[in-house]
Amino acid sequence: MFMFVGVCDKFLSHEDETKEFARFLGQVLNAGDVLLLKGDIGAGKSFFARSLIQSLQDTPEDVPSPTFTLVQTYQTRIGEVWHSDLYRLQSIYEVEELGLWEAFESAICLVEWPELIMHEAPETALLLDFQPHETQTGRSVGISACTQSWAARLKGLVC
Ligand SMILES: Nc1ncnc2c1ncn2[C@@H]1O[C@H](COP(=O)(O)OP(=O)(O)OP(=O)(O)O)[C@@H](O)[C@H]1O
Ligand SMILES: [Mg+2]
Repeated sequence: MFMFVGVCDKFLSHEDETKEFARFLGQVLNAGDVLLLKGDIGAGKSFFARSLIQSLQDTPEDVPSPTFTLVQTYQTRIGEVWHSDLYRLQSIYEVEELGLWEAFESAICLVEWPELIMHEAPETALLLDFQPHETQTGRSVGISACTQSWAARLKGLVC
């Protein structure tokens, strides 16, 4: 596994700030980018992913949690987005069957519960770690990456 190094931390005091954060991050994404979304149940991973996907669509469509479907794909202004949730998977072979490795090459991939694939994720992945806060609507997000390039991409807009 590559070593993830902190890029910056964000505090999102309310859902609207999570939406704004997702929209900003969406502006710097390209095909082949992988976002690993960590955090406990209810931490806000799906909310963030939904906000990001909808911010990239001219006519925002429903973005349900992929906990049971495992993966949902969306067409956006910047190409195809895969939204997946690995919570219910037991083995790396099941991930392979989803076609996630191929998607890593060509789509933008948002992966909830990525613990199963931390050894297989590309070195260029961005890790977002969502943590609850003492206020009900607050979340903190630790942003980290293995490569230096993310710091430059996020500077000014996100970090
Ligand atoms: N600042 C915030 N950012 C994101 N979500 C928030 C925030 N404040 C409150 N929430 C609420 O927290 C809940 C987060 O649920 P969500 O489904 O996104 O969690 P999750 O991390 O995807 O959980 P799971 O592991 O079950 O997939 C939503 O109901 C959302 O409205
Ligand atoms: Mg979720």
